[in-house]
Amino acid sequence: MDRPFVGLVALVTGSADGIGKAIAYRLAERGASIVLHDVKTDELGATASAIRDLGVEVATMAVDIRDAAAMRAAYDDTVARLGDVALLVNNAGVGLMGPGDLVDVTEEDFDRMFAVHVKGAFQVAQMVVPGMKRRGYGRIVNIASNRGQVGFTSGSHYSGAKAALIGLTKAWAKELAPAGIQVNAIAPGVVKTPMTMAHGIDAVHEEAQDNLIKRWADPNEIAATAVFLMSPDGAYYTGQVLCPNGGDPVVGI
Ligand SMILES: NC(=O)c1ccc[n+]([C@@H]2O[C@H](COP(=O)([O-])OP(=O)(O)OC[C@H]3O[C@@H](n4cnc5c(N)ncnc54)[C@H](O)[C@@H]3O)[C@@H](O)[C@H]2O)c1
Repeated sequence: MDRPFVGLVALVTGSADGIGKAIAYRLAERGASIVLHDVKTDELGATASAIRDLGVEVATMAVDIRDAAAMRAAYDDTVARLGDVALLVNNAGVGLMGPGDLVDVTEEDFDRMFAVHVKGAFQVAQMVVPGMKRRGYGRIVNIASNRGQVGFTSGSHYSGAKAALIGLTKAWAKELAPAGIQVNAIAPGVVKTPMTMAHGIDAVHEEAQDNLIKRWADPNEIAATAVFLMSPDGAYYTGQVLCPNGGDPVVGI
């Protein structure tokens, strides 16, 4: 296997489980030192130990992404140990907690949605980008959603937060290209993870019937896209949204 990430440190937010864990694992297999981040401490420890077995260095940040001061302190500790982060994946995310109809969404749920997906990603990028600029190199991948591209029949606060992340992707790509930093987004369709399984396997199966190939994705299929974008094979991509979604929907030109 090629190891294009040897000598690079990767931070994947929300990486104790699901898509983030799969991305961290694949980056480690290809040589990156890994910074795992999540609030699920048990799963974080188990993932850290599995990735350490691959023979790379691993650090963990067990911090709520909404706590900017704690994130900063944990990040500074991590950089002191492993060095500046060159690869950032903004993956931490939350599904719907309460009702999804516009008139019923609570202020708390709305604020949490934007605090985790948008403000969280923004503040992590603010921490990481100065180190990338020092190196004159960086790759950022934001995990958005097909719902941020075309919406859905409920959960507009989720769709809006993911659309905001796509907007950040394009703006950061333009702002940061002169510094050697390339920024892309991934907009997955339905993926079988703890987030979607919270609604039960029948709901995951039903959502998968909306796509052209009639199945859900495995987290590794999303991770493959992230690895591609950060590897030398993806060197000509910036400001783009790649859509591993089984054709749900077919977007753009
Ligand atoms: N599963 C899907 O079908 C799907 C589809 C499109 C996009 N996505 C996006 O992919 C990303 C990963 O989701 P997943 O499906 O793997 O779900 P997941 O629940 O397995 O993973 C998300 C991780 O983020 C962590 N997290 C949540 N809030 C946090 C906080 N405040 N601070 C720190 N960590 C926090 C969770 O603990 C969890 O481990 C999310 O951004 C999600 O919106 C998922």
